[in-house]
Amino acid sequence: MIVAIDGPAASGKSTTAKMVAKKLKMTYLDTGAMYRAVTLALLRSNTDLDDYDSVCQVVDELELDIYDQGAKTVVKLDGEDVSQAIRSMPVTENVSAVSAVKYVREAMVEIQRNIGKKTNCVVEGRDIGTVVFPDAEFKIFMVADVKMRAERRLKELHEMGENRSLQEVMTDLKRRDEKDSTRSHSPLQKADEAIEIDTSMLSIDQQVGKIINLVREKNN
Ligand code: CDP
Repeated sequence: MIVAIDGPAASGKSTTAKMVAKKLKMTYLDTGAMYRAVTLALLRSNTDLDDYDSVCQVVDELELDIYDQGAKTVVKLDGEDVSQAIRSMPVTENVSAVSAVKYVREAMVEIQRNIGKKTNCVVEGRDIGTVVFPDAEFKIFMVADVKMRAERRLKELHEMGENRSLQEVMTDLKRRDEKDSTRSHSPLQKADEAIEIDTSMLSIDQQVGKIINLVREKNN
């Protein structure tokens, strides 16, 4: 069984998907973390993001590992735990450009489908219900007011020791949403049959409860 959760940046997907997975005893898969890890590999190797062949080469050579460990998702790049490093601002600023590259997407989608074949998963991203798992049993599209999203993300960044202004965070979210929605390969899009949840006025428990109820209603 696949529960697909898509939506714009900082709309609450990660927290919600993680809790839903825990309650339903399913695997949680954060596909954004995968695109972030590829971005980190490209930045570390000083690859020119406009140099297509070099980008492909880095993608071919990197070794990516992603798995749940207790309540945490561990992301490993060439054996090194990069779970923190992929949340840094330079990665965040470049990830939308990297994830727009078809070759990068194809490589990541293959890994995602392989994980989905082996286990029941709650998968979050931008193209999960539309491209990666078009036959997912449950499709959710999470949205929220941009100011609310920026406030939530600012709080997370402060907790990680990154000092940013609300304006900076809001600008980044808007820029990424625009880029993610307008790219030609697998743009951020609500699948026709997806259920939209606006989290602006919802608590985490309410968001999680809505999805759990959907799954339980259908499975009973
Ligand atoms: O956590 P946040 O909402 O900031 O973003 P994320 O889920 O970590 O995703 C980071 C970026 O990866 C997005 O802005 C997209 O550019 C890209 N992404 C994608 O293209 N496709 C996915 N399935 C997931 C993420």
